[in-house]
Amino acid sequence: MSTQPSAGSRILLGVGGGIAAYKSVELVRRLSEQGCEVQVVMTRAATAFVGPLTFQAVSGRPARVEMLDPGAEAGMGHIELARWADQILIAPATADLMARLAAGIADDLLTTLVLASPAPLAIAPAMNQQMWRHPATQDNLARLCARGVQVIGPGVGIQACGDEGPGRMLEPAEIAAALHPARPLDGARVLLTAGPTREPLDPVRYLGNRSSGRMGYALAEALTALGARVTLVSGPTALTPPPLEQVVQVETALQMHAEVIARAAACELFVATAAVADYRPVAPAETKIKKEHAALEIRLERNPDILAEVAAHRPAPFTVGFAAETERVEHYARGKLVDKGLDMIAANRVGGPRGGFEREENALTVLWSDGQRELPMMAKPRLARALAELIAERYLEHHAPSS
Ligand code: CTP
Repeated sequence: MSTQPSAGSRILLGVGGGIAAYKSVELVRRLSEQGCEVQVVMTRAATAFVGPLTFQAVSGRPARVEMLDPGAEAGMGHIELARWADQILIAPATADLMARLAAGIADDLLTTLVLASPAPLAIAPAMNQQMWRHPATQDNLARLCARGVQVIGPGVGIQACGDEGPGRMLEPAEIAAALHPARPLDGARVLLTAGPTREPLDPVRYLGNRSSGRMGYALAEALTALGARVTLVSGPTALTPPPLEQVVQVETALQMHAEVIARAAACELFVATAAVADYRPVAPAETKIKKEHAALEIRLERNPDILAEVAAHRPAPFTVGFAAETERVEHYARGKLVDKGLDMIAANRVGGPRGGFEREENALTVLWSDGQRELPMMAKPRLARALAELIAERYLEHHAPSS
């Protein structure tokens, strides 16, 4: 399966202070066998369970423990180390570590590296079942999940303390297999529409909408971080595009349609976040419309549905649509998924007190033919990262049988 970290991935393995730390020695071996480079960083408590020398022997690199270690800092400083990592994996993640991660505390080398690194974070929790069930731990878990942290396990079973229940760290092979690749979309070509369109009424006026383009731009950036080569076809926004493979600026739905159709055959994924005007004025005036009459009628005609057209293309790329609904969100979104022949649709409720157009945050219900996932209310950049990971997961799943 292609959902394992790819050979050459640089994994920073954080080891917390729990009895399961002994299993992390085997985890290093598994990851190394998959071709990953592994740098171990232990909490001080972890050294009570396994010696740093053991990890040095299996990883081929000295395990780091102290924040202010002049010798180690001279080799690779902690900021350098934070940048080095493609992926951070913390196994075992104790209740205390999860609490510190959730709160953003940086009081040792490992938690400092997590804050200083842009790499995705995965945790394999391990603790007594009562500690796992405690509302404080569950709150921390929810916060970490909402931030896009991948949570691997825990398993259910007999624990080192004799209790039985959830909290046991998964086996090293299971953790290594569950870990997302750092760049799951490596080289995949993505075409993405974003922003509003403007449909001219005359040389100075247009019909527009409230889309800011923020979600689309954030998604373009998040997909790029997963390794995709993104071409953005954008309507007019006030945003500066992130560094992408190509950015094409358009104004009208017809221009967006032409730019997308010209590139559709060359992409593996098509993501339509743009709020495309469904209608355009039939005959925009060539000169400025003067207020000569008491009333003015404007005839509109339908714009082509860019998303439906790309989805009908053969071979079709993996297509992801968006739906903004004020009511019966799931019902209407699933209808669009089927009618337009999409692989995925991300639906959000608009018109309520939170989320949607012109807001900093949003929540999404993401649907596909035989499943769905809720991405709870969060800031748009974070939501974009969670959605990008889900798109990657479904895209890889879609291609798994033939690859
Ligand atoms: N879309 C598109 N081209 C259009 C219209 C919409 O590519 N001409 C895409 C949008 O980018 C979005 C999805 O289709 O991904 C939205 O679906 P749509 O059915 O247009 O939503 P609404 O306009 O909200 O439809 P309705 O008014 O029927 O609810």
